[in-house]
Amino acid sequence: MRIQYDETAGIFRLDTEKTSYIIGLADEKRFIGHVYYGKRISDTDVGYLMRTNESPFVPSQNNRDRSSFFDAFPMEYPGSNTGDFRESALEVLDAGGHEAVELSYRRHRIFAGKPALPGLPATFGVDTSDGEKECLTLEILAEDACIGLEATLRYSIFADVDAVVRSVSLRNVSQESIFLTKVMSASVDMDQEDYKMLTLQGSWARERHLDFRQIGYGKQSVGSVRGESSHQEHPFLALVSENATQEQGEVYGFHFVYSGNFLAQVEKTQFDSLRVQIGIHPKNFRWKLGPGECFDAPEAVLVYSSQGLGGMSRSLHDLYRNHLIRSPYKDKKRPILINNWEATYFDFDTEKLLAIAREAKKAGIEMLVMDDGWFGDRNDDNTSLGDWTVNEKKLPGGLKYLVDQVNQIGLKFGIWFEPEMISPQSRLYREHPDWAIAIEGRVPCRSRNQYVLDLTRPEVVEYVWQAVSAVLGSANIEYVKWDMNRQLTDPGSLFLGRENQGELSHRYVLAVYELQERLTREFPELLLENCSGGGARFDPGMLYYSPQIWCSDDTDAVERLSIQEGTALLYPLSTMGAHVSDCPNHAVGRVTPFVTRGHVALAGTFGYELDITKLSGEDRALIPEQVAMYHKYNDLIRNGDYYRIASCRSNHLWDCWEVVAKDKGEALVTCVQVLGRPNYHSRRIRLSGLKPDLRYRNEETGEVLYGDTLMNAGILIPGMWGDFQSRLIHLTAVEADESK
Ligand code: GLA
Repeated sequence: MRIQYDETAGIFRLDTEKTSYIIGLADEKRFIGHVYYGKRISDTDVGYLMRTNESPFVPSQNNRDRSSFFDAFPMEYPGSNTGDFRESALEVLDAGGHEAVELSYRRHRIFAGKPALPGLPATFGVDTSDGEKECLTLEILAEDACIGLEATLRYSIFADVDAVVRSVSLRNVSQESIFLTKVMSASVDMDQEDYKMLTLQGSWARERHLDFRQIGYGKQSVGSVRGESSHQEHPFLALVSENATQEQGEVYGFHFVYSGNFLAQVEKTQFDSLRVQIGIHPKNFRWKLGPGECFDAPEAVLVYSSQGLGGMSRSLHDLYRNHLIRSPYKDKKRPILINNWEATYFDFDTEKLLAIAREAKKAGIEMLVMDDGWFGDRNDDNTSLGDWTVNEKKLPGGLKYLVDQVNQIGLKFGIWFEPEMISPQSRLYREHPDWAIAIEGRVPCRSRNQYVLDLTRPEVVEYVWQAVSAVLGSANIEYVKWDMNRQLTDPGSLFLGRENQGELSHRYVLAVYELQERLTREFPELLLENCSGGGARFDPGMLYYSPQIWCSDDTDAVERLSIQEGTALLYPLSTMGAHVSDCPNHAVGRVTPFVTRGHVALAGTFGYELDITKLSGEDRALIPEQVAMYHKYNDLIRNGDYYRIASCRSNHLWDCWEVVAKDKGEALVTCVQVLGRPNYHSRRIRLSGLKPDLRYRNEETGEVLYGDTLMNAGILIPGMWGDFQSRLIHLTAVEADESK
């Protein structure tokens, strides 16, 4: 890892172990250009890639055709309305009512470490034991002297991961307010080389399915204007070379460390170049920056892989495990929980919960989580959000009594909250109707019969904090599921001034971060799981606060294969909330074997979401085995390297993934047969990531084979009888002396 500046050539280069990111200063060091990002290269003086020696000439030599320069120059952070007609990264409205902005290089600094982004989640470096910093940062200061706006373009790299993280801070150095109307966090200009665009698409109960498309001229994008990162589209896009596979080919991944509105876009231009951008969605965004004030845009993560999609996944997994997740649980096995949502929905009381807890304890489960319905008058989803006092009709003796009983049974206790919401039918709304997000004079849109709290109001944030912390302080609660079950509409605040209404969506996200920061600080041992109607806020921003996020309300083992494939494309398996639930599945009505449900949930945090007191004897009897399986494999699954072997999304028949220990001493392969195939022989699977000259024992068959045999010749998985069958294959390296 190194960051260098070549003064003569005006070139910055950031090198990770396998990648180079190169920025150039062009035309008397005035313009900041993007030179190269990709596989690590040896030369530094590669400014020729900016094509400034070709016609059209740079403005200092050919000012009569300045516009030709702007039409084609690969801008590192393009402004708007001064000649570059491609998509801008930065847009403003200045005091004179004009919308032009153009940044010029001023100075830079390179230093060890990485500053935090105030109020925002971001990756961080950790000092190594020998006092060395494990990350480096380049800050380039640029300015638009005409309107008095300074921009700091920030880049950090890490010693142990091939990733470049970027952010931008803007400072108003003028005497008047400037409105920021668009601030992208990253913009990269590159040549088109037959890349496809990969995004993650979905809906409620089918989040994050992989979707590939051709890149055409003009703009193609994904985004969210729903106030959260969303079920539908994901703050991510990748450019994938035409023939890329899981382990070969080039992939550029762009991922956004943010939980609100986003835009991720590729523009293909007249010269066949691409401009890729990711950042806060400009729709509804207008930020008033007073004189002297600073705006920090969230962080974007860039990963280049020459080892296919798998290479990108493993870099992101390591980045998030080592440099983003902070929870004390991040390196620990999580307690196996049983959640009562699909077991009881709103229809529960202390006795029912205790019955579940008793049976769960016998099966080896370690924590009971009480979901929605424990507060106010909430017997369905029409009321009481905001009234965070225990419903003593359901829970006589209160929360403390219940928690003490559960603890006595020998289980930990966890609880569900939806702190950002307010039901029109609640004491809170009767007292503070102005606390809901709404536009004055317009009846706001309801969703699940609820409104969203206006978290731009400090007193609302304080109320939420007091409500949540009072409940957590009242009993021995060791886990919180923090839910968010509707999207933001009617973006108006009865608190913010006229000129600040366009700040609502971003201020909302900042307030969520502030609340979760406080929660994790004041209750440092708490295990926090984020959730949003399933997985609508599964993003790197939330991972900074919670080491796991509920992946989807769809717990069907087959649908989960695609959801978890898409999620694991970017996120470590340790972060994917996954439970075994009852059948027919509540989301799709499908019946799958209990064993398969266990194998699929094992790829995530693992837990249960069913009424264990009503389960068939056959399924119930399998739980202790599954608990043992979790304890046996979870260290490997949490910490290992992930390889995708086959995807039922594309082959419609079977799904397979593998986790290999970092030291290559162990591997676990999970294979699910989605559709049984008549008259078909065993399936041959070629493994990945093993050490070629190490011998591995297949625990089931006893066979011992070299890593190179397992990876190139492969193994045979005998045919499985019926649909939805699954199998685990555990391989352990044979000790050196044993293998002689
Ligand atoms: C959301 C969550 C579910 C459950 C319900 C409760 O849909 O994703 O797991 O907690 O809310 O209302």
